[in-house]
Amino acid sequence: MEMMSSLMWIIVYMTTLVFSIIFLRAKTKCMISKTSCQLPQGTLGWPFLGETIDFISCAYSDRPESFMDRRRRMYGKVFKSHIFGTPTIVSTDAEVSRFVLQSDAKAFVPFYPKSLTELMGKSSILLINGSLQRKIHGLIGSFFKSPHLKHQITRDMQSYVQQAMDKWRDDQPIFIQDETKTIAFQVLVKALISLNPGEEMEVLKKQFQEFISGLMSLPVKAKKRMFKIVHKIIQSRRNSSTSSMAPRDVVDVLLKDASELLTDDLIAGNMIDMMIPGEDSVPVLMTLAIKYLSDCPAALHQLTEENLKLKRLKAQNGEALIWSDYLSLSFTQSVITETLRMGNIIIGVMRKAMKDMEIKGYLIPKGWCFFAYFRSVHLDENHYDWPYQFNPWRWQYSTNSNMGTDPRVQEKDIISSYNFTPFGGGQRLCPGLDLARLEASIFLHHFVTNFSPTNDRRWIYKCNGIRVARGLTEQIDCELDNV
Ligand code: HEM
Repeated sequence: MEMMSSLMWIIVYMTTLVFSIIFLRAKTKCMISKTSCQLPQGTLGWPFLGETIDFISCAYSDRPESFMDRRRRMYGKVFKSHIFGTPTIVSTDAEVSRFVLQSDAKAFVPFYPKSLTELMGKSSILLINGSLQRKIHGLIGSFFKSPHLKHQITRDMQSYVQQAMDKWRDDQPIFIQDETKTIAFQVLVKALISLNPGEEMEVLKKQFQEFISGLMSLPVKAKKRMFKIVHKIIQSRRNSSTSSMAPRDVVDVLLKDASELLTDDLIAGNMIDMMIPGEDSVPVLMTLAIKYLSDCPAALHQLTEENLKLKRLKAQNGEALIWSDYLSLSFTQSVITETLRMGNIIIGVMRKAMKDMEIKGYLIPKGWCFFAYFRSVHLDENHYDWPYQFNPWRWQYSTNSNMGTDPRVQEKDIISSYNFTPFGGGQRLCPGLDLARLEASIFLHHFVTNFSPTNDRRWIYKCNGIRVARGLTEQIDCELDNV
C-alpha cells in the first residue's frame, strides 16, 4: 500500500515536471517571437535541478569559474542556464552587466536565494527598491565616506588590532581569518551602533554567528535576540538629547532623518541585515591579501618598505597615524585593489527582471534571474595581462578608469570601471567600500610593520585548503606558523 502511494506521488511529480518544462519552453518561444532579440544560447539543464549541481561542484573545485568558462566558450559571453532554482541569464560581459546594474527597479530588482530573503526584514536595504532604498543607501554611503567616521574608525581599529596582536603567542599558530573576523566585527558594530568590545558585543557576535550559519535551519531566534539588543540601543538614543551632535554611528544618521519613514523597527532590522554584507567580506579581503603577499616576495617587500617609511616618519614627528596617511600609501592601495580583483570576494550579483528586457541584442525575459558574474571579467586575459598572476604594479599607473600613457604599462586594455566592479555598481554600489579599504589598509600596515621575514616569526604560511579561486562558501584557514 505504502509502495503504491509512493508510486502515485512519483507519477504526479513526473507529470508536473514534464508539463512545467513544456510550459517553460513554450513561454520562452512566445517571448522570442514577440521581440526581435534572442534569448541567449545555453541550456536549462535537468528539470527542476537545472545546472545547479554542476555549478556547485565547480564552485568547490580549484577553478570555480570553470562552470562559466565552459559555457562562455560554447555559447558566448552571455548565456542562459538554470541555477539558484530558477532560469537564469548569466553575464560575463562587462557592458551588459553594467547596463543591468545601472537600471532602476522598474527593470531589475535584487534577487537573493529564498533561504536568505526569509531572514531579512521586508524593509531590509538589501531588498527594498525605489525612493526608500535610495534614501537609506544615500544616508549610509555618505556617512561611511565622512572624514569624521574615518577618523573614529582609524582610532578604534588601531586599538583593536593592537589588542589582538598583543595576544599572539610564539608557541601557537595564528589563524589570520579568525583574527581579522574578530577585528572587523568590532569595527562594524562600532560603526553601526557604537557598541564597544565587551560582554554585550560577545553576545551579539555569538547570536550573529548562529544567525548566519543557520541560514538553512533555525536562525529566527538568533535574529530576535539581536533585534532586542539593537532596539534597546535605539530607544535609549531616542530618549537622550544628542540630536545637535555630529552622528557617531549609522543609528544616529538614520534617527536624524526627519521623515517618518524610518521607524525604530526598520532601523533595528537594517542594522542586523547590514552585518550580512559587512561581516565576512572584509576579513576575507585581509586574509587573501596576506596569502597573495606571502606568495609574492617582491610585492611583500615593496609594501613593507612603504609602510615602514610612513611609520618611521610619523615616529620622527611624534604624530599618530590618521586615516589619510593609510590611504596615501599608493602601493598598499594597489595591493588591496589587486586582491579585490583576484580574490573576487563577491563573485557576482543577482537581479530579477521585472519586464522583458533587451540588452545588446539579448533577451532577458520577465521573471528570470540575471547573474552578473564579475569573476570572469576580473580574470579575463583580454582585460588583464596574466590574469592569474598577483601583480599590484598593474594598478600603479592607473586610476582605474584610465591607465594613462606611461610606456611601462603593459596591460592590453585600459582598465576601465566596466572591467573592475568588486563593489558592484549603480544604485546598489557597496556603501561600505571606503570602510572596507580603510580597514584593510590599517590591518596590512600593522601586520607588515610588526612581523617580517627576518624576525623570529617567519613568513611561512600554512594554508589549509586555501584556494585563491574562491567558491561559494569555502573555508579559508590561513595559518601563520612559527617555524
Ligand atoms: C571587501 C569588502 C566588501 C565587498 C567586496 C563588498 C561588495 C559588495 C557588492 C558587490 C555589493 C552590491 C550588491 C548588489 O548589487 O546586489 C554590496 C552591497 C552592499 N554592501 Fe558591500 N562589500 C564589502 C564590504 C561592505 C561593508 C564593510 C559594509 C558595511 C556595512 C557593506 C555594506 C553593504 C550594503 C549595505 C550593501 C547593499 C547596498 C544596497 O543594496 O543598496 N559592504 N557590497
